[in-house]
Amino acid sequence: MSTSDSKHTQTLATLGVSSAEQVHSLFAELRSQFDAAARSATDENSWKALRDAWFGRRSGVLTLVTDNWLKPSSPELKRAVGASLNELRTHVDGRIETRRIAIEAGAEAATNARDRMDLSLPGVIRPIGTHHLIRQVFEEIEDIFFSIGFSVVEGPEIETPYYNFEALNIPEHHPVRDDMDTFYLELPKGVPGPLLLRTHTSPVQIHTMEKRQPPVRVIVPGKVYRRDNPDATHSFMFHQIEGLAVDADITFCDFTGTIDYFVKQFFGESVKTRFRPSYFPFTEPSVEFDASCIFCGGSGTAKTGGTCGKCKGAGWIELFGAGMVDPAVYGFVNYDPKKVSGFAFGIGIDRLAMLKYGIDDIQVFFQNDVRFLRQFP
Ligand code: PHE
Repeated sequence: MSTSDSKHTQTLATLGVSSAEQVHSLFAELRSQFDAAARSATDENSWKALRDAWFGRRSGVLTLVTDNWLKPSSPELKRAVGASLNELRTHVDGRIETRRIAIEAGAEAATNARDRMDLSLPGVIRPIGTHHLIRQVFEEIEDIFFSIGFSVVEGPEIETPYYNFEALNIPEHHPVRDDMDTFYLELPKGVPGPLLLRTHTSPVQIHTMEKRQPPVRVIVPGKVYRRDNPDATHSFMFHQIEGLAVDADITFCDFTGTIDYFVKQFFGESVKTRFRPSYFPFTEPSVEFDASCIFCGGSGTAKTGGTCGKCKGAGWIELFGAGMVDPAVYGFVNYDPKKVSGFAFGIGIDRLAMLKYGIDDIQVFFQNDVRFLRQFP
């Protein structure tokens, strides 16, 4: 405080105060000094400084006034000084408390103003995800088969060897089991096993025929698992759509016509199909379907000249395996092989998606890189 403020550091005698009148005006002066200081206490920090300056126990104004004015005062003035000091103390106390309340309320109002919602602001627009390309291709293929009377069924991804192999005419030690290197589950003690991750969607053929009588026309989309090392064309998990049609008089012509219809719907009318002999234990005869190369139009020559890199000049691209249901399979589901016939196919979805959309690495399907995913909104 400035020197003019510092009268309370001196005694009344030194100040030459000798009457009650003078005491009153001295206190009035001090009070107006306080009022001025209180007015400038507008935030928490300046309020604390005010409180300490006036109430500080060792050198606050009120302590100094008590020590310098009251205690050493002459007996004649003591009453007047005591009364004025009490009055000042009550005044200072009251004002400091009202300032505190005002400052706190102000801070609260400021916080409220800051937090208030502005309804005129535009909302936060969160990007909406899209179906993964694999799901889109599933749906595309499902729609094609819906249009010719197939319906969708699903089956378990954890299977018994019976459904994954035996009932599909693949007995133990059959060499094709080597092509389908299988994940077996580690089971807790006491749980009957073995159980495995299905290596193809074909076990759902068996589940379906166990539950339904012909006519059966189903497709089975789903995940399948094989112990393959990941590379550009292999993944330990990939996707298939199984197809199964069984009825009283389904012919080989129905079979190839259906596949040809599907391939043309999926890749385009100009694409031709052919089939080559193949082998699966659960179809007889078994075939491998090819499509004329969608990159070079079947010519085997790239548009830029030279050999087409996609079909390696063959003009044909291998699509998927299929065949007429082997009568032995009907034996496992109590269908009468003399009365029914049918066909089955197993389409690798990832492979078809790669062909159709020009993707050369299967791994990008599983890396969830949005730069890839966003290309297929
Ligand atoms: N399940 C066979 C595989 O995954 C494909 C297939 C399905 C072949 C149906 C013929 C009939 O390789």
